[in-house]
Amino acid sequence: MRKPLIYGNWKMNLNMQESADLIASMLSIKIDYTKVDIGVAPDFCSLAKVADTIRSMGYDISVGAQNISVEEKGAFTGEVSADMVLSTGADTVIVGHSERRAIYKETNKEINAKVRAALRNNLKVILCVGESLEEREASVAKDTVLYQVGMGLHGVNMDRMNKVTIAYEPVWAIGTGKTATPADAEEIHASIRAHLSKMFGPVVANKVRILYGGSVKPDNVSALMMRENIDGALVGGASLDATTFGKLINFNS
Ligand code: 13P
Repeated sequence: MRKPLIYGNWKMNLNMQESADLIASMLSIKIDYTKVDIGVAPDFCSLAKVADTIRSMGYDISVGAQNISVEEKGAFTGEVSADMVLSTGADTVIVGHSERRAIYKETNKEINAKVRAALRNNLKVILCVGESLEEREASVAKDTVLYQVGMGLHGVNMDRMNKVTIAYEPVWAIGTGKTATPADAEEIHASIRAHLSKMFGPVVANKVRILYGGSVKPDNVSALMMRENIDGALVGGASLDATTFGKLINFNS
């Protein structure tokens, strides 16, 4: 059985004080931590503050960065290395989010380099994949997503796959209020797992959590989570309000 994981991606929305306020509100919500794993991905500037708050209060909540450099160290102005992220107390990084792919033109090759840089430094990875509206309409959604999974995890040793989570986020569903139907999402999730099985074998593939992302809200989370291969959610907008995010976390209470 894969334990559900509900992860909030705060994107570029909150300054450090606002991030501190949000995590404080979240921690005041009653959550059964035996039923669900939780994580939040603040901006770089807020990582240490959020991680410190969580750890000092003894909570087991993952803290993730939203990006990292492929480089380890050196003259790369503006970049943040995996080691720097780890040193804030964060344990995870989101790699290959569609906003990084579309706006910052990150290629599958760079995304693979980021995945490997993170794993080399012992950071967990949430690898995001997802098709555009044009790709869905051209009936190449599955091909696109499986290609992204294959490229993103190219050369990753199967021993490191326990640190990898996949997030399927159809681009047309992000921030639009449109969600894939649970059946459509399940079909893609099942094919991702089959692909992981080909790459790493069934034992590894069955342990990898595959999250759904794209307009996940309290009123659609349960139907998604009922599906066999949907193991959690990567949540944008609805993670910015503690009460709403709390409802998502407590989806099965
Ligand atoms: P929304 O939940 O706002 O659609 O964002 C999804 C997302 O991009 C999470 O990474």
